This record gives sequence, structure tokens and C-alpha cells, in this order.
Amino acid sequence: MKIDFTRYDRIVFFTGAGMSAESNIPTYRGSGGIWHQYNYEEYACQIAFDNNPEKVLDFHKIRRKAVLECSPHSGHKAIAVFEKSRDGVSIVTQNIDGMHQQAGSIDVTELHGSLFRVRCRNHGIHEDLGEFTEYKCSCGNYLRPDIIWFGDSLVSEVVEKAVSLISNCDLFISIGTSGVVWPAAGFPELAKKNGARCIEINPELSEMSYLYEKTIEGKAGDVLTRFLI
Ligand code: OAD
Repeated sequence: MKIDFTRYDRIVFFTGAGMSAESNIPTYRGSGGIWHQYNYEEYACQIAFDNNPEKVLDFHKIRRKAVLECSPHSGHKAIAVFEKSRDGVSIVTQNIDGMHQQAGSIDVTELHGSLFRVRCRNHGIHEDLGEFTEYKCSCGNYLRPDIIWFGDSLVSEVVEKAVSLISNCDLFISIGTSGVVWPAAGFPELAKKNGARCIEINPELSEMSYLYEKTIEGKAGDVLTRFLI
């Protein structure tokens, strides 16, 4: 299969945890997935944070440290080079690891927030790029990771931007997502309904694979370097 990218004006790469698997960042649901090791109700929801902030922050400290030891792989870099080579390329990601930006991508919409931002109830959101050493703001409040946890609403401006990009794209390439978490799970259908050509890259068929014209069965890094470079 070949993709003639010159036929498309607005291309969206829609990425999930599998996009970063070859950077050694674990996925959530596959083998070795984070939610097999940790019960999300104890580590990734507001009630857990309210009940035991230190436990939740310890978990995020471990995750941040692990991500800091990882680097973008050839697939992240291929997308970034491709984005710079032409107009009309955007990335909508469910990932919180910052790998696309580290690889050089510019137009990255982070649906689920970032592992590298924290927010204080009084003082708002700020970047925090190193290891998670300070759990409290200078005002004494615990700093909450600026991540969408289970039960949280997504940030409306972020969703609006993603929906606008996806409804207006003519090529939608989904990479490494199981497609089970809403509202992101609805995005392939949105792209398809609006006439985009929809292609999936995943080593396994996903629950959403039936929506795609084609699933390219392979790893993100291998497939993207083959198609984009
Ligand atoms: P999942 O862990 O649910 O799914 C990962 C997908 O990546 C699976 O379909 C794998 O088959 C695929 N995969 C594994 N290795 C791959 C590789 N090398 N190349 C390409 N694909 C590969 O991750 P998400 O769909 O991203 O939310 O999960 C969605 C959301 O659920 C996450 O953003 C997170 C989680 O709870 C929050 O934290 C809010």
C-alpha cells in the first residue's frame, strides 16, 4: 500500500499510547499496560487525589521519571519532519508524555493534558519539566498534575480545536490507540462522517478498526518511517 500525500490538504495524526511504545513508555491496556499494574481508581481520579494526594503524586512522580528517561523514536521524528515539510499537518494526541513536541512537532493538541504541567487551586497551571520534587505550591496547596483523570471533563477549548481539525481533515491517520476512551473514541467516526480517508496503524486490530479503510498492521516507528520518509 502507498499513500500519495500530495492528494491531501489537511492531515491529522491521531495518536495514543501505542505511538510511544517503541520509546519504552508503557501503554495502558495491552500486555505490561499501566492499568494492569495500578488500579486507576486509586491513582488517576480526583477522589483518589482528594483522599490521598501523596499516594497519587508518588505514582505521577514515578511516571514522570520514567518518561524523562525516554526519547522520541523514529516515528515521532518522521511526523515532525513531515509536519515541517508542508502545510496542513496537525497532531491530536491522547498522550501526556510530550514526545511529539520533543521530536519537534509544533501543532500538537493534547487531549488528556500533560505530565509536565501541574495546577494549584489558587495559582493556576504552570509547567514543571524536571523530576516531580515539589508536591506543594508556595501557598501550601498540593499541586495536581494537569492531566485528565477518569471522571474529569476534557478542557472545552482543547476538544473544540480537536473536533475542528478532525471534521475538516481529508486524511486521518490513527496510530496506537485502543479507541475505547471517550470522547477520543468518537474521532475516527467524526473524520469518516466528514469524508476523510481514514487509516489506522496498529500491530493489532482495535475495536474501531472496522471504521478504517485500512489497518496497517505494524509498529508506529516502522510504519511511519516507511510511509513518511
Ligand atoms: P491503550 O493502552 O488503551 O492502547 C494502546 C494501543 O496501542 C493498543 O491498541 C495497542 O495494540 C497499540 N500498540 C501497542 N504497541 C504499538 C506500537 N509499537 N505501535 C502502534 N501501536 C501500538 O492506549 P490509548 O488508546 O492511548 O487516558 O488509551 C487511551 C487513554 O486511556 C489514555 O490517554 C489514558 C488511558 O486511561 C488518560 O490517562 C486520561
